[in-house]
Amino acid sequence: MLGIESSCDETAAALVRADGSILASEIASQMEVHAAHGGVVPEIAARAHLDAIDSVITAALDRAGVTMSDIDGVAATGGPGLIGGVVVGTVAAKAIATARGLPYYAVNHLEGHALSPRLVAPVVFPYLLLLVSGGHTQLLAVHGPGRYERYGTTMDDAAGEAFDKSAKIMGLGYPGGPAIERAAATGDPRQIRLPRPLKGADHCHFSFSGLKTAVATRFAALADDGSSIPDLAAALQAAIADCLADRARRAMARFAGAHGPATLVIAGGVAANRAIFTRLQTEADAAGFGLSVPPAWLCTDNAAMVAWAAIERRQAPDGLDFAPRPRWPLDPDAAPPPGRGVRA
Ligand code: KG4
Ligand code: ZN
Repeated sequence: MLGIESSCDETAAALVRADGSILASEIASQMEVHAAHGGVVPEIAARAHLDAIDSVITAALDRAGVTMSDIDGVAATGGPGLIGGVVVGTVAAKAIATARGLPYYAVNHLEGHALSPRLVAPVVFPYLLLLVSGGHTQLLAVHGPGRYERYGTTMDDAAGEAFDKSAKIMGLGYPGGPAIERAAATGDPRQIRLPRPLKGADHCHFSFSGLKTAVATRFAALADDGSSIPDLAAALQAAIADCLADRARRAMARFAGAHGPATLVIAGGVAANRAIFTRLQTEADAAGFGLSVPPAWLCTDNAAMVAWAAIERRQAPDGLDFAPRPRWPLDPDAAPPPGRGVRA
């Protein structure tokens, strides 16, 4: 399966076999292009995807040592994401599928993240997924490909967004998550007290926009020499970890009530954070759940997860009339969280 990913700021192509062996996973990052703006600029991203897509696909074929004639199917992220980028990947995949007479798969980017642990470990359905990325923070019961039950989502910012926006406020650069984690390594989280939005609430939803505001207030009050930036970074990381742990604890209790304890999977870019991993490991142990985190390269955006999501339902390809979707919830029937600014 040839997989293509282009929904945010990474142009990626991968070749994956049905048995889960990854022959190639190439990524052309636009990080440097967007760093100057402190975040992803959609129009710039779309052009960069267009520039990179052909060479990334060729690089993946070369790396795998295969040609187009060895491919049995083509999958591309069909949404959700920045629509200009999604269109670029979708058109490339449809063109290859048409020219080669191959089945085409429009993959939900979130499903790519959701099923990614099964590409590297024998995680069985159903499992509980904490999806934490720059665009999403969700808790989902994963019953099988295409079968998701959303327990909770964010009412405002995503967890990764809280890292990115706070890093921007603190002048730590983009992407914010890794920068905060590095700065936090030499900081003391107890020096600065930040709020824990929704901690203890009787649902599984999240809220992070208040944290970013609190960081801005505390940053303005820091010593001029910036000596407390590591403390603030550590305090933010601890607050986000606490919030994720509290909501995951509630979700594990709900999941266990229906299915018994199983596996808690963390996926998405924020899952690469060691402090968050450690915190969730403690929660999972206490709830009798196993914890599964895909390796860091599989947690952040990549095309291997897109190819794998298509492999999981390879008997059911999509029509070439599929239209790219800026929004595409995994569980369209999920109850919205209380409050405003609901995200898919
Ligand atoms: O899944 P991803 O690569 O892209 C999508 O948003 O779909 O996630 C990117 C997000 C960014 O917000 C980035 O700051 C965050 O993941 N991230 C991290 C770390 N590495 C990446 N957040 C906290 N700690 C990290 N080590
Ligand atoms: Zn992603």
